[in-house]
Amino acid sequence: MVKSHVLRFEPDKFQADVLSWYDENHRILPWRVKGRQKTDAYKVWLSEIMLQQTTVPAVIPYFQKFTQKWPDIKSLASAKDEEVMAAWAGLGYYARARNLLKCARVVSTEYNGKFPTDTDTLLKLPGIGPYTAAAIAAIAFGQPATVVDGNIERIVSRIFAISTPYPLGKKEIHVRAQSLFEGIAKLSLQNIKSYPQALMDIGAEVCSPKSPKCHICPVQKMCQAYRLKTPESFPVKAPKKLVPIRQGEVYWIEDKTGNILFERRLDKRMLGGMVALPTTDWDLNGDAVPQSNIYRKKIKNLTRLGVVHHVFTHFRLELVVYGATIPDIQNVLGLSDHSVTYNLKKIALKDIGLPSVFLKAGTLAQSFLKRFDKVQ
Ligand code: ADE
Repeated sequence: MVKSHVLRFEPDKFQADVLSWYDENHRILPWRVKGRQKTDAYKVWLSEIMLQQTTVPAVIPYFQKFTQKWPDIKSLASAKDEEVMAAWAGLGYYARARNLLKCARVVSTEYNGKFPTDTDTLLKLPGIGPYTAAAIAAIAFGQPATVVDGNIERIVSRIFAISTPYPLGKKEIHVRAQSLFEGIAKLSLQNIKSYPQALMDIGAEVCSPKSPKCHICPVQKMCQAYRLKTPESFPVKAPKKLVPIRQGEVYWIEDKTGNILFERRLDKRMLGGMVALPTTDWDLNGDAVPQSNIYRKKIKNLTRLGVVHHVFTHFRLELVVYGATIPDIQNVLGLSDHSVTYNLKKIALKDIGLPSVFLKAGTLAQSFLKRFDKVQ
């Protein structure tokens, strides 16, 4: 039977239950310190920027690659732009990588390599928004900041059974989130650092979006969504908008010696600063063949190799992949300042540092052409 009275939320009890769950069940993650080790703000910052992008399992190899190459903020600050962009390739949303580097340089030169410890100053740094500022202040420096990421939003929406749909509901969730952090300043420094991470782990491992494991949840008794027996229906989302589809063409142009033509994309374009395969704009609809582009004009033996699909935040992309072998890239096309060639006898396609969509297109072209070579 569902009891009708509203649960009274007790922050102290909630925090104590969350923290003792964390003691036993925390995830071992490469940016977390063990025992009494000192927290490294550089690692906290780097992991938080990467985690804005994707999931914990996807971030781990990138985090390890970055910290091996650039073990501290000063080494990252003096890295070459192209190297950092290439190391970021595959994580997506490349403006983040550019801001990462900007931020490393500001911290290195203006703050002598030491991150500021308070949210207000952290917020002034490139690429650091309210969530990341709060997460760094709390996790790295033990500041009693209210940290609300997607996992914590979900927990709050369930604890208080917030029924207002997104996007309005998000505001309400952030207001109610304050009560989860009420009085945390009186906890130990270690617990202030652990608490947001404990909530994130509960969000990921217990209070998951689908099939939450309420039977092992340390705060089940305080959860209104659990009482209602409908935890999965929170947070309440507005109906999904249809995502537009964009189309374009991408070219795999190889010369007789095995050089492949790439270009470094202009900073202002999407995926700016990254190495990519030559491509048309991505606004073509099915019939609008780009007769004017130079690949279509100058290369007569272009062959359609297939189609790749990729989902970006605001649109889905369909790229038709065309390939051709030409005698000499320089002579046929003339190279611009942005052109780059790689020879795949010397470097593997996956090591060039291509954004995922171009890696997909390149992989398709390579496998097609290998098959083709065998037939000839
Ligand atoms: N998601 C975002 N930040 C995180 C962290 N520090 N630990 C685990 N998951 C996270």
